[in-house]
Amino acid sequence: MSQFHPSPARSRAAWTFLGAVLGLLALSCLLRAEAAGTSALADASAATGRRMFFGDAALQGAIVGHPEALPPRLAVCANCHGDGGAAAASFGPRLEGTRLTEVRGRRGGPPSAFSPVSFCRMLRTGVDPASILITRQMPRYTLDDKQCLDLWHYLTETSDVGSN
Ligand code: HEC
Repeated sequence: MSQFHPSPARSRAAWTFLGAVLGLLALSCLLRAEAAGTSALADASAATGRRMFFGDAALQGAIVGHPEALPPRLAVCANCHGDGGAAAASFGPRLEGTRLTEVRGRRGGPPSAFSPVSFCRMLRTGVDPASILITRQMPRYTLDDKQCLDLWHYLTETSDVGSN
């Protein structure tokens, strides 16, 4: 008879077990939803970065030594870093995927890699991760942290950099 009328202790254990299983299920759903949310955010950021890179969202840049800002169309990254057929396409180095994050010699300096922080610093000041100043042909930009991270996400997380 005992299998039809489990002891109170056994049924408590069964409920506790069921509760734990349901709790774990709920937790894993929550974590999965959060991961999906995070990657959707990163995708949106890269998409915004792409628009800035190709000039669909304006950026403010200036040439060192010139007090006034560049006309927005001249500050477009793809003018110098893209391969979309523009005349100056090969003017600046290519920036795809691992080029920024891999440890490599840049401008004759010691091996270095960009991080989001050193990338933003370089866009604003021209000082690269090895503390070397890049040429004045590359404009210096006035951008906030979000704009900078959007560009970073686009350049480091997508494989189509430079193709329009
Ligand atoms: C007018 C041309 C021009 C524009 C516009 C321009 N760049 Fe550059 N960029 C250059 C040149 C030239 C260099 C190489 C500088 C050097 O090596 O001293 C460079 C270098 C860089 C580097 C360093 C790459 C490395 O491996 O060290 C990064 C990163 C970069 N540019 C990002 C950008 C981004 C992002 C934009 C737009 C916000 C942009 N550039 C707009 C010309 C340009």
